[in-house]
Amino acid sequence: MGELTFSIIKPDAVANNKIGDILKMISDSGLTIKATKMIQMTKVQAEGFYAVHKERPFFGELVEYMISGPCVVSVLEGDNAIKRYRDLMGATNPAEAAEGTIRKAFGASIEANASHGSDGPDTAKVEVSYFFSSLELVN
Ligand code: PPS
Repeated sequence: MGELTFSIIKPDAVANNKIGDILKMISDSGLTIKATKMIQMTKVQAEGFYAVHKERPFFGELVEYMISGPCVVSVLEGDNAIKRYRDLMGATNPAEAAEGTIRKAFGASIEANASHGSDGPDTAKVEVSYFFSSLELVN
């Protein structure tokens, strides 16, 4: 089994009908989608998910944004999946993201930046289990 990582297609990209385009970019990159579902996060869920950023000045806006509409959460698998997905997303700020990346193609601002991906192995474990039970992951 390859490495697992966790992905969110954020509310802006869902609202702009980009779910299919982004899942296609993920598949085309060679990563395997192990699980995926649409959710509407509650405020408590979003605050918990982003707890690591709670002291940052944008925390309140980030939480409000993430509950502004549905998201698509997924578990991705592949060799080196965490770094590969971060590379596919591009820089946090879409204005700085490279051509061919998800954020360059679909991000509008540092807040509405289309996607989230785990930043390391420990985070990936916590994030996958925050939204998925082991029964939901296809073997
Ligand atoms: S990173 O990738 O963790 O290094 O990026 P970072 O700059 O630390 O940002 C962490 C997450 O916060 C979001 N963010 C913001 N949201 C709203 N307003 C502002 N100004 C802002 N700056 C950063 C950013 O999109 C990251 O979200 P996730 O979902 O973790 O990618």
